[in-house]
Amino acid sequence: MARIIEVRGRRVWDSRGRPTVEAEVIVGRGTTPLASGRAIAPAGASTGSGEAKSVDVPRAVQNINTRIRDALRALSVSDQAALDRRLIELDGTADKSRLGANAIVAVSLACAHAAAAAAKMPLWRHLAGERRVALPVPQIQIFGGGAHARGRVDVQDYMVICIGAGSFAEALEWTAQVYAAAGARLAKKGALQGVADEGGYWPAFKSNEEALAELVGAIADAGLEPGVDVSIALDLAATQLYRGGSYHFALDGRALSAEQLHAMLLRWIESYPIVSIEDPFAEHDAEAMRAFTEAAPIQVVGDDFFVTRAAKLRNAQGACNAVLLKPNQVGTVTETLACWEAARAMGYGAIISARSGETEDVSIVHLAVGWGVPQLKVGGFSRSERMAKWNEGLRIEGALGGKALPYPARKLFRR
Ligand code: PGA
Ligand code: ZN
Repeated sequence: MARIIEVRGRRVWDSRGRPTVEAEVIVGRGTTPLASGRAIAPAGASTGSGEAKSVDVPRAVQNINTRIRDALRALSVSDQAALDRRLIELDGTADKSRLGANAIVAVSLACAHAAAAAAKMPLWRHLAGERRVALPVPQIQIFGGGAHARGRVDVQDYMVICIGAGSFAEALEWTAQVYAAAGARLAKKGALQGVADEGGYWPAFKSNEEALAELVGAIADAGLEPGVDVSIALDLAATQLYRGGSYHFALDGRALSAEQLHAMLLRWIESYPIVSIEDPFAEHDAEAMRAFTEAAPIQVVGDDFFVTRAAKLRNAQGACNAVLLKPNQVGTVTETLACWEAARAMGYGAIISARSGETEDVSIVHLAVGWGVPQLKVGGFSRSERMAKWNEGLRIEGALGGKALPYPARKLFRR
């Protein structure tokens, strides 16, 4: 049995040029190193108030190199639940603010990588065991807004889901075509302002709805059928829009009540091929979330609303029908898995998600495949911190050959 012989933390840099934390876990027999694992903490910009709290990077690094290292040394690396329990106990706070969620999530994920490396398996296989697996269905950002593009448009993510694709590789191929077509349309309109934090275009639209029309146009320009081959997913990240009792859509010059927002979103769903909306209402607005989930015939995803907490999901009482899973939102691999297991038991959909501040770390792709989470959200189709994850999915699909379970897109989003 491989045991942890060393844990190291270091400061590295993320996709926004901000410092973050990397952890490295070395395992062996006795004092002989056998294998190692590494992971980097991501960082959000539109964070939910219920998220586990990070500490500043020098402190997180110091915590890894001292207290966490001392606590984990000599423990078996194969018992992820016990390692995560140790980290949670050592921190001793409800929000991981003593050691820092950034320190804890990097170490937790690095342990998972080290365990897989010691077993000489890719992480996805180590997590899946003998179970057959499928590649997840991606939600890929074409236009970025909200906190990731200085509020140029209010809706944070305009994404595509290739609901008719027969494989992960085909979904990426179609997305590449839509992304190129969307860029060409923006350039022609003089509305191309660059690329937002997650790799989608930073557009200069005149209204939030114009982005929907342009996205449908881009899908058609790519030679694909909107609503049949490729549909639309939105993340409103509505906690960011909520102030003083209403939802502010600055680009449209309007402040909407929850009822008005509900009506506007239902109208959008009628007019455009939208199959999924994330955080349509603010994190505290459970009543509005419940009413919308009941009324809308689509996937309604809770991100800030659930902050990857199994307990919040179990209390949902009809609010949302899917959950976003972000390991750093809750802090450990085991707690992320618990939220996914709760979702599955309740019949909720689930999407493993990256953050707006990312790196070359591809752990979440392995979690999605290994745990059988049916969807994956990583951001856009440019910037290498995004492409590294899509490309990792291609490698896994290639390694599976014909042995993968059927690709779930058509079954998930039958309309
Ligand atoms: P964040 O946004 O990583 O900036 O919090 C991602 C999301 O809202 O899904
Ligand atoms: Zn979100």
